[in-house]
Amino acid sequence: MKIICAHDYQDMSRKAANIISAQVIMKPNCVLGLATGGTPLGMYAQLINWYNKGDIDFSEVTTINLDEYRGLPREHEQSYWYFMHKNFFEHINIRLDHVYVPDGANTDAEKACKEYDEIIHRFGGVDMQLLGIGVDGHIGFNEPGAAFELGTHCVDLAESTIEANKRFFASADEVPRQAYTMGIKTIMQARKVLLIANGKAKAKAMRTAFFGPVTPAVPASILQMHPDLTVVADEEAWSECPEVIGQ
Ligand code: F6R
Repeated sequence: MKIICAHDYQDMSRKAANIISAQVIMKPNCVLGLATGGTPLGMYAQLINWYNKGDIDFSEVTTINLDEYRGLPREHEQSYWYFMHKNFFEHINIRLDHVYVPDGANTDAEKACKEYDEIIHRFGGVDMQLLGIGVDGHIGFNEPGAAFELGTHCVDLAESTIEANKRFFASADEVPRQAYTMGIKTIMQARKVLLIANGKAKAKAMRTAFFGPVTPAVPASILQMHPDLTVVADEEAWSECPEVIGQ
């Protein structure tokens, strides 16, 4: 596990963008696993900035997103498909037929998840998987208690996740109760994993995920077993980890 401590959100975003950028330069036709949420927004903005300067080319890249709300069509403003297009894909030269997000509009969960795993398999797996982390230690929508051996599957969202995500909807009632997510098995099969985090709210999750026992109670803790994991977080997110802050 490679641990990087950034000063603040902007520094975290630049460092993470550098790592993604290096991946794309080293393997222009790579498969990037991508995440939504507040954490990666600064990183996407930085990558767009470098793209505009001609420093990075996404024309051969394929992206496979972690998750999507079940029941939301692509056009819904809170769908992850919409998020990715608005915040990243529309601003770079990625081919839109190279972009994959689980099909939230397909309410046949078994079919939607099976098709997604087939897509990942068809591309030979993910070269670099980007992850954020939930306040309860979730990754993707793999909530505490999630089995480590699952591929893409349908999950019921935890109350804490509905609570955290309601800021994007008119009310908590409108947050979908289920989602399709890559499973822990899918995530662990990525050749490289890059997890990013910022802010005090994540401090406890960072401590239990990276300096506690590996347990399904903290889904991100399994990442300690990944052979090529990089964690970039700011000082606030590391604030409960003296092992890092003291370095
Ligand atoms: C997003 C995802 C989630 C988020 C996590 C952190 O695709 O799968 O696991 O990474 O909930 O969200 P933010 O970044 O909003 O704190």
